[in-house]
Amino acid sequence: MAPAESSWWQTAVVYQVYIRSFADGNGDGIGDIAGLRARLPYLARLGVDAIWINPWYPSPMADAGYDVADYRDIEPTYGTLADAQALISEAHGHGIRVLLDIVPNHTSDQHAWFRAALGDEPGARRRYHFRAGSGPNGAAPPNNWQSVFGGPAWTRVADGQWYLHLFAPGQPDLNWDHPEVRAEFEDILAFWFERGVDGFRIDVAHGLVKESGLPDTVRPGDAEQSLVQSREGHPAWDQDGVHDIYRGWRAVAQRFTPERIFIAEAWVPSNERLARYLRPDELHTAFQFDFLRAPWRADVLRAVVDDAIAAAGTVGAPPTWVLSNHDVTRTVTRFARSQPPHLIETEWERGRWAAEHPDHTVGRRRARAAALLQLALPGTAYVYQGEELALEEIEDLPAEVRQDPTWVQSGFTDVGRDGCRVPLPWTATGAPYGFATDADAVTWLPQPGHWDEHSVQAQDADADSTLNMYRAALGLRPQLWRDAGEVKWLSAAPGVAAFERGGAQCWVNTGDTEVELPGTASVILASAPGVGDVLPPDTAVWLRA
Ligand code: GLC
Ligand code: CA
Repeated sequence: MAPAESSWWQTAVVYQVYIRSFADGNGDGIGDIAGLRARLPYLARLGVDAIWINPWYPSPMADAGYDVADYRDIEPTYGTLADAQALISEAHGHGIRVLLDIVPNHTSDQHAWFRAALGDEPGARRRYHFRAGSGPNGAAPPNNWQSVFGGPAWTRVADGQWYLHLFAPGQPDLNWDHPEVRAEFEDILAFWFERGVDGFRIDVAHGLVKESGLPDTVRPGDAEQSLVQSREGHPAWDQDGVHDIYRGWRAVAQRFTPERIFIAEAWVPSNERLARYLRPDELHTAFQFDFLRAPWRADVLRAVVDDAIAAAGTVGAPPTWVLSNHDVTRTVTRFARSQPPHLIETEWERGRWAAEHPDHTVGRRRARAAALLQLALPGTAYVYQGEELALEEIEDLPAEVRQDPTWVQSGFTDVGRDGCRVPLPWTATGAPYGFATDADAVTWLPQPGHWDEHSVQAQDADADSTLNMYRAALGLRPQLWRDAGEVKWLSAAPGVAAFERGGAQCWVNTGDTEVELPGTASVILASAPGVGDVLPPDTAVWLRA
């Protein structure tokens, strides 16, 4: 049942709510549903079409909620099912759709199924990947796979067997060859669809099916896992069998009106591999992560845009633009250091970056320009909370407050992802900056001392703030770009990417000298002052031709 005309999700701007860090409604320093409900008017005024909420299910938080203990309930720290229900209907009242995060690759080790697997329920281990070890006494892991977070992807249990976890030990991988696993997840989807949820972001969508027999990786470098570097032919990722699961999920979505949709988080080696998830009877969209890995260089950005549009086009899906999310270094900081001439290859380049002092003023300027580029492109755009405030990565969190399992599992060599997950500053009043209703609240990650000027309150009052730029851009996007058709590149100086869509143009200057703009065009919106006849460095502009 193909949608007759363009559906909301083909052109939507989706705001990613990292619920732990968005807004705290009860003063315990942890974001929650009450806080999110109270801030829905903020999101409505920002002008987003939908929100995607990171996992909000009961969880022991071995990986910030990506270890789910019960897929049909709400983590008590965040609220109740009734709160969730109220949030969904209030969001809808604001014209905002609600996408949840489904985590099908693994459960928590506290999930009833895994507890049963460790108990004496016959056959319960078959829902996971339990194996005998290798080597003398089975004392070595069954194969050489590494966890994405570092260390072996296997943990041994009391009776000597090992279980597979591509992520933390508290996240045992499910066995998707087991019919009960398939049936259970289809039922979970229906559970939330019945409660009015508009769709799901699928966590690690490329991981569910493993090569049968779980063979060792043989190529050099393959054993070292990395989320963003999944390689073609790796036995743990992107197996052809995964697509059958999504055909089943699509059929579940199809039972509901209005349309329910899926977006895949699938780190696959090419846009061609990604397009396979988007065939008409599978998923609706998939994050195109090359944009998030691109350096601040016009030639690379342009190639990424062309490639993403072409790949999505082969299956009739909208391209999907992401500048950052809760797993990667914030855009401001990514652009605050020297830029490599290629896509960023290692996970988060945190190691290399530590050596170079970031210039956040430059990073902010570039991030603002990148946002105008992102929002002018065809398809859908994801905005990670705090991008609209141009927040930077907090790279100097003290070791003792770090929570990301990456920190421990990497043997304290990789600081992990906490730096992009720091609670948002709402008011210019010092920590907790209105994040919690209670001024004495201690936030679950400490906020830096200088965020007054980046708070919503401060940016509200400043016509040139990033927040107000986002509001203006999202306000203009429907009439300017949403249905404007194809990207037609314009000839431009080196370091500059410029295109026209419909009657409007977007110019981006990533170089270090100003360039001339077409004299006949008028400026609609610019990412920095000083745009008129010329476009300064690290600036983007929307023009009417
Ligand atoms: C995804 C999530 C990430 C999580 C991992 C394991 O990549 O975005 O935050 O750690 O899956 O669930
Ligand atoms: Ca709270």
